[in-house]
Amino acid sequence: MTSDATQDGAHYLLGHTDHELRRLDIQGDLYRDATLRAFRDAGIEPGMRVLDIGCGTGDVSRAVATVVGEAGSVLGIDRGERAVEAAREWARDQGLNNVDFAVSEIDEFHSPANFDAVVGRFILMHQPDPAQVLASVVRSLRAGGVVCMIESYMDALLSGPHSFPASPLYDEIVRWKSAVVAGAGSDLHAGGRLKQLFGAAGLPQPRARLEARLEGGADSPYYEYIAHSVRSMLPEAERQGLGGFTNADADTLERRLRDEVLASRGMLVAWPVVAAFCRTETAPATAP
Ligand SMILES: C[S@@+](CC[C@H](N)C(=O)[O-])C[C@H]1O[C@@H](n2cnc3c(N)ncnc32)[C@H](O)[C@@H]1O
Repeated sequence: MTSDATQDGAHYLLGHTDHELRRLDIQGDLYRDATLRAFRDAGIEPGMRVLDIGCGTGDVSRAVATVVGEAGSVLGIDRGERAVEAAREWARDQGLNNVDFAVSEIDEFHSPANFDAVVGRFILMHQPDPAQVLASVVRSLRAGGVVCMIESYMDALLSGPHSFPASPLYDEIVRWKSAVVAGAGSDLHAGGRLKQLFGAAGLPQPRARLEARLEGGADSPYYEYIAHSVRSMLPEAERQGLGGFTNADADTLERRLRDEVLASRGMLVAWPVVAAFCRTETAPATAP
């Protein structure tokens, strides 16, 4: 497996392998409703010009493009060249000319302050200094623009119930995945910290919502999603000397998790997300 290194050596903990690109696609389906709800409540509207930070393969860009429509436009930025290429290919295939993608570190992105909205999902949790990153992109916003961030609240599954009835395999996965994410320096509490983070970035107090899907039954895409997540994290787990799952385990994980949930007629709580959104201050009226 390869990880997608940038010129300055920074990398994304899950890499951009084929498994990871597939995982991002399934993740898009799982979190689309919550994402669109957040955009609607944040006030993103047809005709707006939107910046999507850490766009990955472009799922959030695609979602917000359906909201702003042909009169609006979306620019997705990501440090991962493979992910950006996959996103561009999709836009080309769809014949869309109002959705564009660029390779860039978020805090190195410069543009005139003319975006109507900045959005991002599962991105601040991976930043060593998320307030600085958030503050840096707000500079690309016009006065009165919308900021809408959606972050995972992984800690909620560690400290609360994650399956009904309790699934031993899911418990093992939740603990392992949380350990890998925390060991890589990403923030398990990112969702819970969003309100504080907006304040630290100089933004007004946001409105926020916590939500989680409950997954079960034979056809849920969640089992495949989990198997790809584990597979994508194996190199990082190995780097950390964590042990636990292996490639061979990952190959059977989807089937084993589905079998366990079906046998107990149970359900799994998918990793919850917090959406937080606000508008920046409008510029003070200037004297005539
Ligand atoms: C978990 S993925 C989320 C992708 C997408 N937002 C979504 O929800 O499907 C995080 C993405 O952020 C990118 N990323 C993380 N930190 C970044 C940074 N500082 N600058 C640019 N991209 C970054 C990674 O390369 C990765 O593609």
